[in-house]
This record gives sequence, structure tokens and C-alpha cells, in this order.
Amino acid sequence: MAAQPKPLELRIHGRVLEHLGIQMYQSPVNAVAETIANAWDADAEEVGITIPDALGEGAEITVADNGIGMTHKECQDRFLAVGWNRRGDDPNQRTAEKKRPVIGRKGIGKFAGFGIARRITIRTVSKATGEATTFVLHVEQLMGDEYVGATPKPIPVEEYLPADEARRAEHGTTVSLGELTLGEIPPVDEFRRSMARRFLLHEAQSDFRVTVNAEPLPRSLSLQGAQYVFPKDYRPDESPTSLGEVDEEGWGTETLPSGATICWRFVFHEDTVDEDELRGVAVFAKGKIVQAPFLFRLAGGLSGQWAPEYLTGQVRADFLDADQRDRVAPERQRVNWDDPKAAELLAWGQRRVKKLMALWRDRRGEARRKAIEDKLLNFSDRLAKLPAHEAKTVKRALTRLGGVPQISNRQLEQVGEAILTAWESGRLRDLMSEIAGGEELSEARLLELLLEAKVLTALNIAEAVKTKLRTVAGLRDRLQRKELEKAVRDYIAENPWLIAPEWETYAVEKRVDQLRERAAQESGLADYEGRVDLALSSGDRLLLMEFMRPGLTLDRDHLDRFDWYVRIVREGVAASTGGPFTEVSGYMVADSLGKRAGHLSRLRSLASEGKYALTWDDLLQGALRQWEEFLEALVSRAPDDDRLRALLAEDAEPEPSDGAA
Ligand SMILES: Nc1ncnc2c1ncn2[C@@H]1O[C@H](COP(=O)(O)OP(=O)(O)OP(=O)(O)O)[C@@H](O)[C@H]1O
Ligand SMILES: [Mg+2]
Repeated sequence: MAAQPKPLELRIHGRVLEHLGIQMYQSPVNAVAETIANAWDADAEEVGITIPDALGEGAEITVADNGIGMTHKECQDRFLAVGWNRRGDDPNQRTAEKKRPVIGRKGIGKFAGFGIARRITIRTVSKATGEATTFVLHVEQLMGDEYVGATPKPIPVEEYLPADEARRAEHGTTVSLGELTLGEIPPVDEFRRSMARRFLLHEAQSDFRVTVNAEPLPRSLSLQGAQYVFPKDYRPDESPTSLGEVDEEGWGTETLPSGATICWRFVFHEDTVDEDELRGVAVFAKGKIVQAPFLFRLAGGLSGQWAPEYLTGQVRADFLDADQRDRVAPERQRVNWDDPKAAELLAWGQRRVKKLMALWRDRRGEARRKAIEDKLLNFSDRLAKLPAHEAKTVKRALTRLGGVPQISNRQLEQVGEAILTAWESGRLRDLMSEIAGGEELSEARLLELLLEAKVLTALNIAEAVKTKLRTVAGLRDRLQRKELEKAVRDYIAENPWLIAPEWETYAVEKRVDQLRERAAQESGLADYEGRVDLALSSGDRLLLMEFMRPGLTLDRDHLDRFDWYVRIVREGVAASTGGPFTEVSGYMVADSLGKRAGHLSRLRSLASEGKYALTWDDLLQGALRQWEEFLEALVSRAPDDDRLRALLAEDAEPEPSDGAA
């Protein structure tokens, strides 16, 4: 017969503490959150957290609550019993006084403080007896090098005051974390925000207030910058049938197929949510976070792949913590989604996220389209000039572009402008047809198209500039051959840009004809035969052009009369108060300028007064140079584009048909 074997025994080493607290709660927010949960369970109404300004000897983080506290015996039986299940066999236990759903269940939360501190001091006054007990847990003492065996670890009591009726009023517990092992003190604002996100208690329950350095926690979910809040923003036909009521705060109640009830709200923001901690949907059970924001494990392939960055949400799923099964790793803020009940919620979340993202995309597109339509009004004149079917294509393409979330409104305006310009001159048609077509555009393809649009637009303008250059060159040739005096004048009158690009907006000005006539008489300029004159204007600027007879060389007399002429017009313009012009300049153009003594400095001084005398050659050379510079600037917008480069390389050949014929 075999000998009766010696019984085995289970030994727990003091170092398990390390696994319970030290490694799990290394952020101050995590470490303190457990203490807040304990205060809730103790029916506290106020929890005051203090964070010191700096690290250093004596620096402590304290958490003081005005809950029911503990008697000396409770300190022993509850606080110092590792793994004690306070809910017993009622997973839905409620607190004694305030009937709050109990959060604690594992009996280990008190060790969270060891994540950031080596010493935890507890001072507690029992509401039931008025006993006051202070004791210290020190990580070194507790961990030792030994197994916790039959003999328990002694915890010295620093102070004990026996039951006292009067002291009962001072009930509450203060937990102080000392010998901090933090690398640095967390910024208090950040700490507050981050803590707020771990609870729904402080905002749903008016009798539970949490402050950090005397300032209350903000709300767990900011609606600032929210564009859509679901389920509130569902339209009647979009709302899921399983959705019940929606309250004022935007929480919708929904029943899952198994009968479990949840509350939820998803917020889509106007702009991307920058903080990682907020992106995605957080799950709460009994008011405490159990799952850090996530996307229900959805990855990639979502319609509108960019939506996750815009989404924050909250789900209250108390059922996750309403039975004997423990589905939650609180310190990691993670739910065990393989659990069947949790899996149901996960599947729900995946469905909801997918649907809402599609909806969000449509809505946003819609809002954009409306904005675009408003903006298209700016283009309506130009669109109206296009044949109906073309206008439709352009409009559709612009609308589609506007529907792409990554394109900002400003960019859209610029692109719209560029597109119309390009379209009007016959470019871009294929490109636009592609954008307007029904195909889903990939981001890469879209960017490619936009780049192409930019190049085409530059190309387009460049071609127009090139044509102008050719025309100017042609004009110059003709003038050199002394051809076409009057015709040239008329041609310039119609195309002032020939002389300088910035004159593109100038038009013939008739309102000063009489004044000019009089000035020409009085100044004696009218005596010169073969002169032609012309006035151009743009806004409040008036240009007086004087073209002298071909073959003429400007002498002192010409300059005097020209000077006089401009003065008279200026006076006349100034005399008509309320008239449109505030700036009058004159240009006198002749075949050559005289070279007599004093002539040059006279020309300079006249120029400084806005009276310019120059030769045809100067004038046209200047124009050519400016247009060439413009062309080069255009090419530099897309320096690698062969088409633009080719255009630049071409000679500015005179174009006979487009000249001043
Ligand atoms: N601030 C407090 N006021 C009164 N009693 C407290 C306080 N903190 C802790 N206790 C008592 O100590 C017990 C142990 O706390 P601990 O956080 O370790 O476990 P728990 O809250 O029961 O469960 P969990 O590990 O899930 O938090 C609590 O159940 C409670 O009875
Ligand atoms: Mg606890």
C-alpha cells in the first residue's frame, strides 16, 4: 500500500504585490482613479485630490473623501484583506446609504497607489463609530523576501482613537501617496482632463464631486467642435429600430438582441481629434471606464477611412459588470471581448461604427455640397456662359471635389477658380469628366488629378501670355516699319495690356474727353500734327497716352507742352470733387528722345511727377520683359512639366493675324 502523501500547500510571495499594483498602475491618473472609485463605493460626496507643485522630499499626492470611512475592524477585514470580494454573491450590490451601484469587486484596487508611490498612508474616521485609524503600507515592508504564510504581515497603526460620538461627523478617508516614484509631476489641467475621461460619475451624479487642487473635473466628453452627435442627430428614417429613448444629454438607450441594455452617444467632430486618448469609443460599466477608447477592433477597410480621427464616443454597458463574471482588466482599461456577453457588445459596436461612419460621410458631404453650392454662386456668371451640358459637368466635378473631407473650403475655392479658368479655355475636359464621373476616387488619384489641374491651369495662362508676347512683338515690328499709326493707337486702346501686364484692367476712358481737348488746346499740344491721344482708366487711376507722329524726335518744346497738358488735366480732375480719379499719369511716346543738354535730367524729373516720355522701343521692350517674367513665374509653378517648359523655350514669333491689322 502506498504511503499517504504529504499535503501540498499554496504559498504566495510578498512580491505578488508588484503584480497587483506596481506594474499595473504606473500613471498617476490610473493610480488615483482607483482611490476615487473607492470613495464612490464609500458613499462619499466630495473627493479632493491634491497634487504637489514639485517632486522632492515630503511631496505627496493626497485623496481625501467624506465617505463612511472604516472602523479599526473594517480596516482589517476589508482594506487589508487582499482579494476580498465586497459584493459577495450579489454582483449588483448597491452601497448602503446612497444605493449607488458598487464599483469595487476584486479587492486589489488599494494597491494601485504603489504604481507611483512607495508609501501609502491611510487615515480614516468611521461614520458608524467615530473611530479614527491611521496606518501605513510601505512597499518594502510588504514585499520582503518571503512567502506570506500562516503568520500575517504586521501593519503598524500610527494612530488610533477609539469610538467617539462627536468624531463621527468627521467621517471620511484620506489616502496619501508618499515617496513618489514619478518621473515628474503631471500638469494639473491634463491630469484633470484625463481623470474626467475615466468616469461618468462626476457628471451624472450631482452628489459626487471630484476636485483636483480645488478645481472640479471637467466633463468626460467635450461637445466642443462637435459636428454631429448620434443618436440625437439621426433623421427619422436612419434611426435603428432597437434604439429607445434619447435623453437631453444625447444618450440613447438601446437593447441588444440578448436583452442587455446599453446607453451610448457618438460624437463626430468638425476637425480631427488630436488627442489619442479621445479617439474612438470608450466603454463604461457602473460609471467607471472599462475599455479605453477604441474602434471595436475594426481596422482598415472602413468606408471613409478617415472617420476614426473624427470620432469620440461613450457607451454605458453596466451589464459587463453585473454578474459573477469578471470581464474587465481595469488597470489596462480593457474588456475581455472574447467573453460571449462582451462579444455581443463588440459586434454591436462594429455595426454601429460602420453605419455611423457611412452616415457621417454622407452628411459631411452633404453639408459640404451645400456650402459648395453657395460658393458656386460666385462662379454662376461664368458657369452660365458655358453650354448647359458643360456647366453641368463642371458643377458636378466641383461638387464632388467638395465632398472630399480632406479638401478644406479654402482649397476648394482656389481649385474651383483654377478649374473654371482652365475649363473656359478648353483644357481640363477629360480630367474634369473623370472627376465628375461616378467612379470612387482614391486619394492618390485625386491628388494626381488636382496636381494636373494646377499644371494645366498654369499651362493655360502661360499660353495666353505667350500669345500676348507674340502680339507685342508683332506690334513692335510694325512700328519699326513705321506702319499703322492710327490703327496702332486703336489697337492699344482695346488692349492696354500690350503695354504693361498691370494695365490689363484698364479700359478706354471717355468721361475726360472734353477736359483733355481743352488741355490739349491750352497747352499747345494740339498744335502738333499727326498726334493721337487716348485716355485709359482703371478704378481711380487715369492714364493719358500721347503718341507723337512717326519719325518725330522729342524736343524741349514737346516736353513743356506735355507737362502743361498733364497739369491742366490734373487740375480739372481735382476740381471736379467726387469725380472718380485720384491719380493721373501721362505717357508721351515718340520715335526718339532728344539728346540736348539738360534733356535727360528733365525727363527724369518729369518721370518723378508721373509724366513719362519714352520711345516706342522702350515701351514695347518693357512690355515684353514684363510678360516674359510673368511667363517664367508661371512655369516655375510646375517646373518639371514638359509642356510648360516647351512653351517657354519657343520663340516669341510675331503672329501676323493677331496684330494690329
Ligand atoms: N476610501 C475608502 N473609504 C471606505 N472604505 C474603503 C475606502 N477605500 C477602500 N475601502 C475598503 O477597502 C476595501 C478594499 O478596497 P480595494 O479597492 O482594494 O478593493 P475593492 O474596491 O473592493 O475592489 P477593486 O479591487 O475592484 O477596487 C473596499 O472594498 C472598501 O471596503
Ligand atoms: Mg476599489
